Amino acid sequence: MIPKLQAIVLAAGSSSRFKTGRTKLLEKICGQELILYPVKLLEAMNIPPTLVVGHQKEEIKTTIAQNCSDSIIYATQEEPRGTGDALRCTKHLWYKEHILIMNGDMPLVNQTTIELLYKKHIDSNASLSFVTAYNADPSLNGYGRVIQTADQIQIVEARDLQQTQLEQEYCYINAGIYIATRSFLENHIETIEPKNNAKEFYLTDLVKIASSLHHTITTVSAPFDQIRGINTFQELWAAEQIKRAELINYWMDHGVRFSTPHSVHLDLDVSIGSGTFIASGVHLVRGTRIGKNCRIGEFSSLEDATIDDYAQIQAHTLITQSHIGKRAIIGPFAHVHNNSSIMDEAVIGNFVEVKRSTIGIHSKAKHLTYLGDAIVGNQASIGAGTITCNYNGLTKHTTTIGDRAFVGSNNTLVAPVTIEQNAFTAAGSVITDDVPEDALAISRSRQVNKKNYAPKLRNPLGLESQAFLAAIKAESDSSVEES
Ligand code: UD1
Ligand code: MG
Repeated sequence: MIPKLQAIVLAAGSSSRFKTGRTKLLEKICGQELILYPVKLLEAMNIPPTLVVGHQKEEIKTTIAQNCSDSIIYATQEEPRGTGDALRCTKHLWYKEHILIMNGDMPLVNQTTIELLYKKHIDSNASLSFVTAYNADPSLNGYGRVIQTADQIQIVEARDLQQTQLEQEYCYINAGIYIATRSFLENHIETIEPKNNAKEFYLTDLVKIASSLHHTITTVSAPFDQIRGINTFQELWAAEQIKRAELINYWMDHGVRFSTPHSVHLDLDVSIGSGTFIASGVHLVRGTRIGKNCRIGEFSSLEDATIDDYAQIQAHTLITQSHIGKRAIIGPFAHVHNNSSIMDEAVIGNFVEVKRSTIGIHSKAKHLTYLGDAIVGNQASIGAGTITCNYNGLTKHTTTIGDRAFVGSNNTLVAPVTIEQNAFTAAGSVITDDVPEDALAISRSRQVNKKNYAPKLRNPLGLESQAFLAAIKAESDSSVEES
């Protein structure tokens, strides 16, 4: 808690460089919207944030309401007339002695940088302090450059500088994090003018104003990667790679093995137990929790899934909003979704779909099966090609299969229907009625064997036409030779 500090986060811009028409602040990095990174950081540091919103303000407020405390205050900037104008829109909400101002588009910044800036600001009794970063790349034209001469310091946007100036001189860029005393802001916020190529009110002009009035200005330098601003999809991608690498390093430090880490997509809110192996191309998103010593096979996708210890998810499996028990084996090419639960040691194999169903301990459905709205007991066996017909076009119905029941291959189970425990159903059956405990249900037409019938099928025109068939054959043979 820094008692004398409040924060303003600028989030009203039009995000024109994204070219989507939407605000960039709701684009996600590792599953979390950009705007939540600074806001959650400030909340964690107990610095009360005020958000300036404008473009898509209702959408931003909804995202904040779903993810942050309800103590966040909003100011509205009606038109995106620049960062200086955005700050001015919060004037009536300034109440602490010092004001931290942050761009909303910087997801990689951390607590240490803000603490250092505040300490230096206080220790040097500065009116204005800001974070800089060294980057000598002259093609980096989305940032303001810090230009310091013997008697003045100012920030000039790269687009307002000549290419030669970018190449030669100004390698310190402005990060977009500032702390100012409230009195300095109150006295000078109205003096910013839109005198630049973009005709916008630049917050950064406050540096020049402070400097020309001989106020104390301090800076702290942070690594460039930490203060990257996101103005384009390319910058979003670059920042996401950094964030994801941070996450993967974190899980490696906690005993997780990634076979090809750069190919894995990982959200911020995912957790993985030690001893677990994550293969190439795996997607782990939306709060997925994986236990210890699991194996997640190649190109599997887990969304809001809970995987218990020692479970094996084989290649190309999709699991959403579902729970997989200890030592269960799922896939390859399985689909488990809609609040399904596969209990301990169960096996769900190739091309099996499980929807809104519970599969009991040690039960198996190993091949080509659809289990929808099914409740399967323990140690049941579901034969290849079995389908629960859970939908009659109007309503969904439940199929219940008891403990140790054996459902033969290629069964059609027409719900609502119950196969009680220890019952058998014969292969190829269409089960429409309940099967009692220990019974065998057979529901298919009886096989008839017609003796010596096969030759008639091979020669449907009868013996007398043998000559005719021989003529056709001779003709087709000669046409093959010719071609
Ligand atoms: C800004 C800085 C630049 C710095 C860079 C760091 C200015 C003039 N320039 O440039 O010196 O190097 O950040 O990333 O400040 N916003 C509003 N209202 C507006 C315009 C913007 O609220 O009218 C918000 C945006 O939503 C965004 C933040 O302010 O969150 C920064 O705006 P952006 O357009 O990204 O500024 P940059 O061009 O990156
Ligand atoms: Mg920016």
